[in-house]
Amino acid sequence: MPIAGIYGPDDFANRPQGQPVTSARAAPVPAGPKLPMPSLEWIPAVERATAPLYDRVKHVIPPIEWPLMAPTIHAINQLKRARGAVILAHNYQAPEIFHCVADIGGDSLQLAVEATKVKADIIVQCGVHFMAETSKLLNLDKTVLIPDSRAGCSLAASITGADVRLLREKFPGVPVVAYVNTSAEVKAEVDICCTSSNAVQVVESLNVPTVIFLPDRYLATYVASKTDVKIIAWKGACEVHERFKGEELRAYREADPSVQIIAHPECPPDVLAEADFTGSTAHMINWVRAERPRRLVMITECSMADNVRAELPDVEMLRPCNLCPHMKRITLANILESLLTLREEVTIDLALAERARRSVERMINLKN
Ligand code: 13P
Ligand code: SF4
Repeated sequence: MPIAGIYGPDDFANRPQGQPVTSARAAPVPAGPKLPMPSLEWIPAVERATAPLYDRVKHVIPPIEWPLMAPTIHAINQLKRARGAVILAHNYQAPEIFHCVADIGGDSLQLAVEATKVKADIIVQCGVHFMAETSKLLNLDKTVLIPDSRAGCSLAASITGADVRLLREKFPGVPVVAYVNTSAEVKAEVDICCTSSNAVQVVESLNVPTVIFLPDRYLATYVASKTDVKIIAWKGACEVHERFKGEELRAYREADPSVQIIAHPECPPDVLAEADFTGSTAHMINWVRAERPRRLVMITECSMADNVRAELPDVEMLRPCNLCPHMKRITLANILESLLTLREEVTIDLALAERARRSVERMINLKN
């Protein structure tokens, strides 16, 4: 059914003025015990040690570029062991990060679940700030680092904790579901979190006729199309996915009617109407592994197409992809720096963290 209502900052005259609180910010950065910078020379020992890693990315990274990356990759992997750190990377990280230095890769739900199982004392989150905050919420006793804390997200920046309180005043008693693409401050105000893999399941788990679903208007519209629960939405959008257009997909189909199109549910409805499959980043990857389409249009962030092509080179990837500038703030160079200096550490006020953690754990504990 269509969404029952959609609200944004302009709909509340009494909304506190000021900058929206974004999840990403310059963290206070206590300098860690700095280790010496390792050698970054391209020498035969590095070439030998990194050869198995190059094998994983040879279809997407030209041989001429490898000597420029491999010494940093080698240094990161050595330092990671020396520090006892684990690297979590989202599916949108560049292939040299996703395939060559990450210990665990996945979508937002997988990363949140894996974060609860981590034994290491240090987590380096290669993704955007809300993902690092989620890892920290689930690991309050651990050091969680993000190589660049300015790595934000237009969805997380679209809503504040005060906005959630205003929505609750307007709709008393209606439970609030927050996409994990929100700050800890917002998670602390809501009843339960969801990701794009489990949004419909989370909404239906509440057993109520109406829910407030925030902040992504397009994910809300997608969820509303899959359930009888009435959805009240917020006006946020992903700046990467909202740029896709249904007409560009129709042009691909006209050029080759056998092409398969898969899309992330953060896309507008006219885009999803053209897709053969809609799912979270992990669901999209699993779909490609199972279906092995000959030609594929993957409507999401560009690096994910590279990561899939590295694994499945026989799938021809047409690429009307958009880059997420926030995800791209994470680089090999700043991952190395992060491990050397233990910066930038994600910190969350403890009382707020306890409340925010409850909504994330409530999602994780839902039975499949
Ligand atoms: P997934 O949970 O599908 O990985 O999505 C996260 C995200 O930020 C997509 O833009
Ligand atoms: Fe946020 Fe969109 Fe980037 Fe995902 S792709 S992190 S939703 S801005």
